[in-house]
Amino acid sequence: MSRTAIRGGLVVTASDEIHADVLIEDGRVAALAATGTPAAEAFTAERVMDASGKYVIPGGVDGHTHMEMPFGGTYAADTFETGTRAAAWGGTTTIVDFAIQSVGHSLRSGLDAWHAKAEGNCAIDYAFHMIVSDVNQKTLKEMDLLVEEGVTSFKQFMAYPGVFYSDDGQILRAMQRAAENGGLIMMHAENGIAIDVLVEQALARGETDPRFHGEVRKALLEAEATHRAIRLAQVAGAPLYVVHVSATEAVAELTRARDEGLPVFGETCPQYLFLSTDNLAEPDFEGAKYVCSTPLRPREHQAALWRGLRTNDLQVVSTDHCPFCFSGQKELGRGDFSKIPNGMPGVENRMDLLHQAVVDGHISRRRWIEIACATPARMFGLYPKKGTIAPGADADIVVYDPDAEQVISAETHHMNVDYSAYEGRRITGRVETVLSRGEPVVTEREYTGRKGHGVYTPRATCQYLN
Ligand code: URP
Ligand code: ZN
Ligand code: ZN
Ligand code: ZN
Repeated sequence: MSRTAIRGGLVVTASDEIHADVLIEDGRVAALAATGTPAAEAFTAERVMDASGKYVIPGGVDGHTHMEMPFGGTYAADTFETGTRAAAWGGTTTIVDFAIQSVGHSLRSGLDAWHAKAEGNCAIDYAFHMIVSDVNQKTLKEMDLLVEEGVTSFKQFMAYPGVFYSDDGQILRAMQRAAENGGLIMMHAENGIAIDVLVEQALARGETDPRFHGEVRKALLEAEATHRAIRLAQVAGAPLYVVHVSATEAVAELTRARDEGLPVFGETCPQYLFLSTDNLAEPDFEGAKYVCSTPLRPREHQAALWRGLRTNDLQVVSTDHCPFCFSGQKELGRGDFSKIPNGMPGVENRMDLLHQAVVDGHISRRRWIEIACATPARMFGLYPKKGTIAPGADADIVVYDPDAEQVISAETHHMNVDYSAYEGRRITGRVETVLSRGEPVVTEREYTGRKGHGVYTPRATCQYLN
């Protein structure tokens, strides 16, 4: 048996903050005991880590990443190897990535392809959602099989006609199926048909710069799609999880539905909390670095997102990590913003940015852990194996220094992308040590992990409903 003790830290979970020692046995949390008590003194371990003055927190669960995702004629620049290593550096110990069904192919073949990309390459544990691009009788049957084998959530798109787009009938059918098999529908809520009209008109007027990406993808069209998705889910009797919520008006739709008692959930991402259309408007095509969908919004929208996170009208912060290099990838859209690959890097920055939100008073320390670790684990059926520090849980644990100062930069980050969306941003707080199932992946700011340590983790159905 291998034993590790983490002594003297402040253990922070979604529910508690206690000065406690943590005993790990064979990759799992075996016990916690208040520091200095006889119970804690009785812990014996070959490896002892001193966490005094530090936080001891569950490893982050990032429920929304796109490693190696094909998009716009290119691929997201992080592989499972580089992306999960960067995640570990940033204190994230589980990702849920999106396998993609391409039109005309089965869910199974899409899922198999994603398993092949990930297997043996990951530094931390991983699981999959399934993007459903082609709803038909065969796909609907396959959804049942996937739920049974641990792929319990399905993303549909109201945007990107001709690529991932589903119409309302296809969405309703998938939701009805999810209502029966326990799956969770995750919605990209933007009215893509209307947006494509506005894109065409903008380009015809010669409006080709990145900032027009933000102008045509209107907040009202996010809100309209959010409203429609909520009502379709209500008709189907299915729960709904809306991904990458960015607009005040979309939060209002979620708030109203939740006030009606509907099982409707919302995710936002650090880019919407910390960046804005000011970034999209940066000169010399620099704005392309910030092109993602839903788009960055005017700064005024941030207050509604923070409020939603505090009132639990938004439950989760994921990254939607989907990095494209500025050089050679984002540049595909010079002269036509609609050809800029959509997506931003961030898997390494989420835990730090949200700690900064604690420092700045937007959220409490326990809420930080709730939105970044515990709730994503429960939402996607990984709890209490992931997302908390409790006896029996996987020892996915981060020792976090709340007082260290750092400056985010592409010079020092570990994501495989040539820029940082948060370049120069000062953060109070830093990941010191990261354990994945008890194994040190980062040890006092040194990488000690290995490719292949991370394993595929099948999921239960959504545990946030009950
Ligand atoms: O711009 C984004 N968000 N790219 C990734 C794909 C998606 O819609 O989540
Ligand atoms: Zn999306
Ligand atoms: Zn409405
Ligand atoms: Zn995404």
